[in-house]
Amino acid sequence: MMYKEVVGSEAMGYLATKPTMIITTLHESGIVNAGVFGAYTNLSPTQVGIAISKSSDTYRNIMRAGEFVINVPGADLVEKIRILADNIPADRSELDEAGLTAKPGINISTPSIAECVAVAEFSFDKEVPIGFHNFVIGRIQGGWIKHEFLDSDGKIDIFKAKVFRDFKYPAPLYVLPGEVIEG
Ligand SMILES: Cc1cc2nc3c(=O)[nH]c(=O)nc-3n(C[C@H](O)[C@H](O)[C@H](O)COP(=O)(O)O)c2cc1C
Repeated sequence: MMYKEVVGSEAMGYLATKPTMIITTLHESGIVNAGVFGAYTNLSPTQVGIAISKSSDTYRNIMRAGEFVINVPGADLVEKIRILADNIPADRSELDEAGLTAKPGINISTPSIAECVAVAEFSFDKEVPIGFHNFVIGRIQGGWIKHEFLDSDGKIDIFKAKVFRDFKYPAPLYVLPGEVIEG
């Protein structure tokens, strides 16, 4: 099996370096929605916080369904980001538009994206009202990582996985992990 599936907080290690990620959620119809997000951080060993626009489908779906998946793409998916970040009507799946495959959830009902390198599944915990964006806090339930991208410490190997971060958003420019220095 190419995926290592986990229950609980181990999957937080797959978000190391907080790369640009894709959140999948479920529309009321059961169609899978996918949106792109970069403004997030870990808040505790089991919680993540994300600044999410209140006008996004992602926000509405999390508030209704109470769960979401953070999917970590490798550099081979960078061109899909533009499609996923588009405002696609709720009766069409961004995954289909981008030619990506839904993989059934492990610990929650929301599917993940099979082409990503790793994913972390969350249940909605609480939100902090900010303004245009709200700060949405999720609690880890589990996730999966492809064996080839697992580092010896149980976290993601960001170099092998070729994760990337947005560099000059909204320009479609991204950076890959670079030099490592020891402190
Ligand atoms: C690289 C990148 C990073 C983004 N980061 C965020 C973010 O942190 N928060 C946010 O609300 N929107 C962010 N966006 C914009 C959303 O992707 C966009 O609003 C999208 O339409 C949301 O999808 P949805 O309506 O299907 O939820 C980002 C877009 C890109 C391309």
